[in-house]
Amino acid sequence: MNTRIAALLTLLCVPALQASAQTAVPRLVTRGETVQLHADGRPFLLLAGELGNSTASDPATLAPIWPRLRAAGLNTVLAPVYWELVEPVEAAFDFSTVDTLLAGARRHDLRLVLLWFGSWKNSMSTYAPSWVKRDPARFPRARTSDGSPLDILTPFAPENVEADARAFAALMRHLASVDAERHTVLMVQVENEVGMIPEARDRSPAAESAWWSPVPHALLDRLSAPGPPLHPALATAWAAMGNRTHGTWPEVFGTDERAEELFMAWHFAGYVERVAAAGKERLPLPMFVNAALVRPGRKPGEYPSAGPLPHLVDLWKTAAPSIDFLAPDIYFPNFVEWARAYDLPRQPFFVPEAGYAGSSTAVADALFAFGALDAIGFSPFSIEDLPSDALLAAAYEALASIEGLVTERQGTGPRIAGFRPPVAYDESFDESPQEVVLGDYLFRVSFVDPWTPREAQAPETHGGLALALSDDTFLVVGSGVTITFEPLDAAAGRAFIDRAEEGRYVDGAWVPGRRLNGDQTHQGRHMRLPPGTVAMQLVRLYAVR
Ligand code: DGJ
Repeated sequence: MNTRIAALLTLLCVPALQASAQTAVPRLVTRGETVQLHADGRPFLLLAGELGNSTASDPATLAPIWPRLRAAGLNTVLAPVYWELVEPVEAAFDFSTVDTLLAGARRHDLRLVLLWFGSWKNSMSTYAPSWVKRDPARFPRARTSDGSPLDILTPFAPENVEADARAFAALMRHLASVDAERHTVLMVQVENEVGMIPEARDRSPAAESAWWSPVPHALLDRLSAPGPPLHPALATAWAAMGNRTHGTWPEVFGTDERAEELFMAWHFAGYVERVAAAGKERLPLPMFVNAALVRPGRKPGEYPSAGPLPHLVDLWKTAAPSIDFLAPDIYFPNFVEWARAYDLPRQPFFVPEAGYAGSSTAVADALFAFGALDAIGFSPFSIEDLPSDALLAAAYEALASIEGLVTERQGTGPRIAGFRPPVAYDESFDESPQEVVLGDYLFRVSFVDPWTPREAQAPETHGGLALALSDDTFLVVGSGVTITFEPLDAAAGRAFIDRAEEGRYVDGAWVPGRRLNGDQTHQGRHMRLPPGTVAMQLVRLYAVR
């Protein structure tokens, strides 16, 4: 092409491209084996925290919190939108709480993920407006087997779902009008920790009639379709009744509490689908649902059952195609186990509630999530309570500075890794060294710091994230990890450290600090990121035969 024409085209096209990048609706994009969030036309990591439930209901409470969140290194805040406050009178909407969130976030250069506290919040319907709560004839409740009403709107009433869908659609229409340029809001969570408790099945009249009705074709088709295998729990429940391809819920799945949970999951998911689809029609932001997890040994009915739990993934995905992904709220110590259970194919991995802010394991959990599971985001709960000296701020600052390096490597094989000791539900943990492959090298990561007395360290809080920058150069962000190296190919000989240095990334360029080739690497024997702090180090290796 003639160079003058090319230059002119560049001049004409660049502003147009930039403008379209700025206004692009946030979306999920598959990259290799993972799915990422794109905002402003590029992959985005949510270095986030979720506000406590009541903070966003009062502008005066919220106002002084914004600067603290920014100072803690957050780039995104998860904040509730309360149905009862946005629709105090039926069809008369007041989005002032949403506008306050948008203004505050923008003023502090933060993005938002909104949480729709609609029909259900932690199973209950406490955020439904008074005109819904006080009219059980029009908006029926779930009921227990003795007929008592619960503080839970039944998912089996068309009036319930339509009222919720209208309100949610109004919210998304409002966002489409006030946030279409900036896209301060990146994603929306639909409802909050949906679940049935204290019995596995709703016994309201409409629920009873659905229970004795045929299992819908969409679910039967999914059960017998070739393709991705069913979760073993669903496959077992179906096989136990003879893999039937038609029949009522009791005929196809039986009558125990596990069958009841499948039935409720299908109907909760269908309700959430109706709400999400109504909203997506107005503004197609990524949408997700979050789950309260299950303590070991609990049966359906003894925990908030039928929510978007891993063993119910096939039902949720089939009944709620407008929901882009399922996400865990991980308050239990076994973070690694639950995180892996939600590292599902064809969806991104995100932890909207990663324990309480200030948890001693947050840094290790976050680095593991971004490095090992290609997370799009991490978000401790009640983030306004994060102690000012929390290490998470340093981890977020480091991650922000290498965001592009991380997102470019996610989903593309052994160019990124994350490590932390797995902790069990009973808080015991396995501090054994772990091996990870990066480029042409095997990294052996130890979580017990060699220079700190054993009783003065907590290896369950140690962890890190490593990136291969080239064949021989690696970047590690972490706390309390010591790493030795060997070439994957034994014929290459032994690995040695050419150069180790600490430093930081500024505007995409490595700015070295101290050179660490003496005591800090035990004269080249290992790379060490001490406990009690978050460090970033670069190491260049070489092999000698
Ligand atoms: C999980 C819920 O999703 C949050 O809204 C909050 O209630 C926390 N639990 C608090 O414990």
